[in-house]
Amino acid sequence: MGLRKLVAGNWKMNGSLGSLAELDAIAAAAKAQASVDVAVCPPFTLIAPAAARQPGLAIGAQDCHAEPKGAHTGCVSAAMLVEAGARLAIVGHSERRADQHETDAEVQAKAAAVIAAGLTAIVCVGETEAERDAGRAVAVVEGQLDGSIPRDGTAATLVVAYEPVWAIGTGRTPSTADVAEMHAAIRTKLGALLGGEGAGVRILYGGSVKPDNAAELLAVADVDGALVGGASLTAAQFVPIIEGAA
Ligand code: G3H
Repeated sequence: MGLRKLVAGNWKMNGSLGSLAELDAIAAAAKAQASVDVAVCPPFTLIAPAAARQPGLAIGAQDCHAEPKGAHTGCVSAAMLVEAGARLAIVGHSERRADQHETDAEVQAKAAAVIAAGLTAIVCVGETEAERDAGRAVAVVEGQLDGSIPRDGTAATLVVAYEPVWAIGTGRTPSTADVAEMHAAIRTKLGALLGGEGAGVRILYGGSVKPDNAAELLAVADVDGALVGGASLTAAQFVPIIEGAA
């Protein structure tokens, strides 16, 4: 029997107060699928109103600063996320690794801060297309895990999201065999990094997950859920993915 599945939506820089109406049907679907954990990560500005609108739904952030406070203009700390009502935070998304030049060490420090604040950290890893074409996909992801995973992470506080960069927002996905190979490698690496705790850390797949491919991807061994971008923006698309995980 596999781990309890987690389906998390990442709204990225999308959404408005009006978009929070989508959460009503998402929360209802989450309640109906009692065997699946569901989370939505809107932009920072929507965390508090989202948590207030649907207190039963796990709301998360898309980033978190590693320091508790200080002169870091534009940044948000883990304690601030807790106060806003967040229960988890994504760190090290490939868009931040690319756009903000985040390093593995920074991602690790952010994840540690998230966990220390009592939240769950979703640490993202994934290779570029060039790295996959060069036959280096597994080695690249293993290296990211080495550098990004806080060693005090547990099954309750840490989630890994494998997101091949070339599959994000492109409509392309790896074969199920490639997903299985990578998730097995991640599972082995988590065991090496975290000991027995690594067996319980959930490994999400992310990258062009849609209603029509979710069930197939979620059925792959060691795929313990999904991190969904574009298709998490509307209940019409996100709810079937939640149902596909059940
Ligand atoms: O965080 C989510 C991922 O980047 C996947 O995005 O589902 O739009 O491809 P996508």
